[in-house]
Amino acid sequence: MNYLFVLILFWCSLQCSVNSAQILVISSMPAHSHYTLAFRLVKELADRNNQVTFISPYPQKTQAKNYRDISIEETIDFTREFKKTLFELDGMGFIGNKLIDTELGTGLVEHTFKNSEVQKLLNSDESFDVVIIEHFLNEALIGIAHHFNAPVVFLAPVASCAKNNYLFGNPSPSSYVPDLLGSFTKHMNFWQRLENFLVINYNDILREILYIPKQRELFKKYVKTNLELDDLLYNISLMLTTSHPSVTDAVPHLPNIIEIGGYHVSPPKDLPRDLQEYMDNATDGVVLFSMGSNLKSKDLTLDVRRSILGAFSKLKEKVLWKFETDLPEASPNVKVMKWLPQQDILGHPNIKAFITHGGLLSTIEAVYYGVPIIGIPVFGDQRNNMEAAVSNGYGVSVLLQDLTEKTFSGALSEILNNPKYRENVQKRSKLMHDQPVKPIDSAVYWIEHVIRHKGAPHLRSVATELKWYQREMIDIIVFLMAVTSVILVTIFLLLKKCVKLIMYYSKLKKTTSRNKKKNKSKENVNCPLKYS
Ligand SMILES: *[C@@H]1O[C@H](CO)[C@@H](O)[C@H](O)[C@H]1NC(C)=O
Repeated sequence: MNYLFVLILFWCSLQCSVNSAQILVISSMPAHSHYTLAFRLVKELADRNNQVTFISPYPQKTQAKNYRDISIEETIDFTREFKKTLFELDGMGFIGNKLIDTELGTGLVEHTFKNSEVQKLLNSDESFDVVIIEHFLNEALIGIAHHFNAPVVFLAPVASCAKNNYLFGNPSPSSYVPDLLGSFTKHMNFWQRLENFLVINYNDILREILYIPKQRELFKKYVKTNLELDDLLYNISLMLTTSHPSVTDAVPHLPNIIEIGGYHVSPPKDLPRDLQEYMDNATDGVVLFSMGSNLKSKDLTLDVRRSILGAFSKLKEKVLWKFETDLPEASPNVKVMKWLPQQDILGHPNIKAFITHGGLLSTIEAVYYGVPIIGIPVFGDQRNNMEAAVSNGYGVSVLLQDLTEKTFSGALSEILNNPKYRENVQKRSKLMHDQPVKPIDSAVYWIEHVIRHKGAPHLRSVATELKWYQREMIDIIVFLMAVTSVILVTIFLLLKKCVKLIMYYSKLKKTTSRNKKKNKSKENVNCPLKYS
């Protein structure tokens, strides 16, 4: 009996030492995809008995166990204007995009710091064992973690890329790691590699002169400390990335970068009854069409909308379209819904294809459930995601400017009638599910690892302590080039000297031999006189 008691106590203390940590999670970008990623983690950590505080624009309607919201709803109004420009982002150029990043980042950080509930938290005597920040244009918010003297985990809504690799010194050679915002695949020819190299470096420079200085300024303004923003940014314990080789490229990762792509997807739940019946009865299959949460389908031009509807009207399959307004001109096989449970529909056996904007979460969900995709990429990493889907043989991409009834019909018929797309995406799906631990368990494990060890400096590469030219071995290459040049010049000068000497001597020899000959002939001429 006593034994049992001690055992239970021991087990309890074990459980308590790992669980029931105080965790602060910050997700400042008011967008469904960003929130989805952060909230999935919040929920898992709370379910595992940690006390979670979640700063986000979307507080839950009902408060759950182990979990408390701090609402920064004001960021929703602030970003509304930006969302209207999403369809134009592509044409704005690198500087235009960076300026938008700077402005968006400034607003997100300011609204978070100025929020009265956040201020209340900062002025409380609470403490946290770890602070998890969903990293999106909010570097200065790391000051909150510093205030609580807590180690930092970044949750990246993307794969490791130029936006975050520099914080860890993660190697990312432009020879085979394409820019996240470009449209190259990992196989690049000479000119593509050149462009990739220039674009990545140009963007790095723009980040350093346009974007980060503003974040440094905000950090100074809102955080009382002698430290600089960079001291904290280059001291992050861990980054969890939304990537996995089944969807994103196989690229180098330092030990403090953990791929957890797919962690936000769960096995399909039951559909609402009308949808369930609709899906069950669709014997010819269903095509799901959703442009994600940031882009509204009604933002599509009238021409594009007409082309899409024209192509749909020729299908024998049914079409479920997430659209924000009614579409009276749609053919009878098209069902329009303002909201739909995307994951659960993708999990239905009658689903035949998924038309998407190519957002990372949608792409991951398609692969998770093994559904081939047609992508209409619009901005950000969408084109890059679609290029990967095309090159991996499970997707067809149609750019918005090329979209006509003919091209769209062609894409639909290719995806629906050529079995290769389904086979390839099913293969990818098997790869995504073939992992030693589930991505969500891996995420929790690594967060707890950081909590247990109060940070993770042992995972950090010294790459961040090196100057960029040291890290890229530029100084060594320049040095070697200098030494080689000195050696080559010396050899050249010596050779020149030698050649001169040889020429001099050979000339000398020639002249002396000519002189000799002359003398000889003179002698010969003279000879008779002499000897005769
Ligand atoms: C870096 O992080 C570790 C723990 O993660 C912490 O102990 C250390 O004080 C931090 N350094 C700075 C400069 O903040």
